[in-house]
Amino acid sequence: MDIQWYPGHMTKARRMMQEDIRLVDLVIELTDARAPLSGRNPDIDEIGKNKSRVILLNKADMADESLNRRWTAYFQNAGFFAAAVNSRSGAGMKQIQNIIQEACREKLERDQRRGIRNRPVRAMVAGIPNVGKSTFINSFAGKACTKTGNKPGVTRGKQWIRLNKNVELLDTPGILWPKIDDPAVGQRLAALGSVRDEILQAEELSLWVLDFIQGKYPGLLSRRYPIEEDGRPEELLGRIAKARGCLQKGGEPDYTKAAALVLDDFRSGRLGRITLEAPPASGI
Ligand code: G4P
Repeated sequence: MDIQWYPGHMTKARRMMQEDIRLVDLVIELTDARAPLSGRNPDIDEIGKNKSRVILLNKADMADESLNRRWTAYFQNAGFFAAAVNSRSGAGMKQIQNIIQEACREKLERDQRRGIRNRPVRAMVAGIPNVGKSTFINSFAGKACTKTGNKPGVTRGKQWIRLNKNVELLDTPGILWPKIDDPAVGQRLAALGSVRDEILQAEELSLWVLDFIQGKYPGLLSRRYPIEEDGRPEELLGRIAKARGCLQKGGEPDYTKAAALVLDDFRSGRLGRITLEAPPASGI
């Protein structure tokens, strides 16, 4: 998670993705359900062209349920197979097998027409750091499946997890680098803790989070903190500091401490189920 993305890292991540993607038929891309567009790198569309594609909205348990539905529909309308999942608890995992089969049906049928039989579909998981790739692989493939060792030829050096007789999953996920051309994207990713805070000062970031929640999710802040919700974000942060005993020696609010508290509460889902962006064209 503490990866700082310099051009060198991006080039390396891209090269590794490009190498691994040649081995698979299907890419299971994870994005954060709380910021599904900001949390994906659209370069995957180019890298993964000609592959079957699934997009999973992970951490759906922390995201707004109605927006989970809208985002799932959004990606489906854009031509992807999509679903909302919680990799930590395993909720939503059952449907994934079917989705994978569905996503690969064309390929399986093509194989059959060409007389290729018993060649399992190969899949890989990809996404930006901290989106939950390892958790997903463990949850989805962890117990039930046997690992297959090195195989001669194309899969040399790679570990595959056999999910069933039709599907094998590459056990190391592809790492995509966050794409932050737009400052709003950086803000969302920093708020989620997916990129380092230093891009924005924690205090500034917490004010942005408070402002967003106050505007889009009225009632959530006063449910968590014993404060009045009206006023500017700076005032809210000051009230939270006082209510939570984040005080400097002279009794003045310690904004830095309060900011860290707010960000931690937000990132862990303690403020409630919040999604930071809505599908385009609808405006959140
Ligand atoms: P990565 O491989 O993509 O880098 O991500 P990783 O699986 O390490 O997951 C990053 C963090 O996100 C972990 O929390 C993990 O538990 C959490 N996570 C993954 N999927 C979900 C999900 O669907 N819902 C929720 N609520 N959390 C999820 P952590 O705090 O870094 O570690 P830990 O507390 O789980 O040990």
